[in-house]
Amino acid sequence: MSLRSSAEIFEDLKHRLSDVMPEFELRLKAELASEILKLKEEKNAVILGHNYMEPALFHTVPDLKGDSLELSRLAAEADRDIIVFCGVRFMAETAKILNPAKMVLLPTKKGGCSLASSITAQDVRDLKQKFPGVPVVAYINTYAEVKAESDICCTSSNAAAVVESLHKDSVIFIPDEYLARNVAIETGKHIIVPTKEKKESGDLDYQMIGWHGRCEVHELFTLEDIDNIRQQFPDVMILAHPECSPEVVAAADFSGSTSAMVRVVRQTAAPRYLLLTECAMGDNIIAENREKELLRLCSVRCPHMNEITLQETRDALLYGQYVINIPESIRVKAARSLERMLAVG
Ligand code: 13P
Ligand code: SF4
Repeated sequence: MSLRSSAEIFEDLKHRLSDVMPEFELRLKAELASEILKLKEEKNAVILGHNYMEPALFHTVPDLKGDSLELSRLAAEADRDIIVFCGVRFMAETAKILNPAKMVLLPTKKGGCSLASSITAQDVRDLKQKFPGVPVVAYINTYAEVKAESDICCTSSNAAAVVESLHKDSVIFIPDEYLARNVAIETGKHIIVPTKEKKESGDLDYQMIGWHGRCEVHELFTLEDIDNIRQQFPDVMILAHPECSPEVVAAADFSGSTSAMVRVVRQTAAPRYLLLTECAMGDNIIAENREKELLRLCSVRCPHMNEITLQETRDALLYGQYVINIPESIRVKAARSLERMLAVG
């Protein structure tokens, strides 16, 4: 298979990203990308990249790109020896859970997520004890131990469908409070989010029980941001990720997963658009939507996604780091929750 040279990669990056990055930086990144592509073939690896990866990485090294649901499916089907996951830890863990025979590498030691770290397996056990018999839906932004304690997983693109697939009067939906509230609105369920201060009774007079996790990026967007932008640009199309607050989601024109937002931007006739999500994604789609204007409200980057660079990805392949390992007893239980989700479609 012939690999693209660093000169070819540079020309391609220049075409896509000259508005967002200086040429000298693009040249350095093209060299690193070329090195990664060679290593990837030598090691028989596949690189998966989340939509939030920084633009020079996003456009060069991943074989496959997408949102959490798309990447979970692709990881489950990957047939190369190594999966390098350019994303955060819970995503790399998901790849390992679904495809345990492969070596899964996350190019950073940490790669956290404020949602995933907001809840532990013990918290889930406590919730189940308090609300016996109520099924637990775990957002994919959780660690393996939490998935293992849950009945089914969901992502931002199938959360409402997963909740409805259970055909239950009540569900526990963890850990994203805002996503839970947005799903409750979409599915017509009444929701409570237990707090440490206010003890809720175990009586099931509510249909959705949430948790108090928040995405540290999406919680920053406000109604005021939307009002300001609409005043200045009445013809703007506003797209919000469902990890934003329900008020922000209600005031936006569209809400959906990262890939759903990319598709809507591609299709809309609106002359300008605003993405209420991690900012790298805007840079990743401007080149293919040149006739529309991306309004840059934000400078909000996810510090965890931001840990993944071309250099870290090169080192991951070069040194075989950092290997994702999950104890088999946990992996098997977590796989059940993920496979149930994949079966929902
Ligand atoms: P998506 O599944 O929509 O890609 O979202 C992942 C994520 O972490 C959003 O913050
Ligand atoms: Fe987690 Fe938010 Fe970062 Fe997504 S953007 S990985 S939800 S902290």
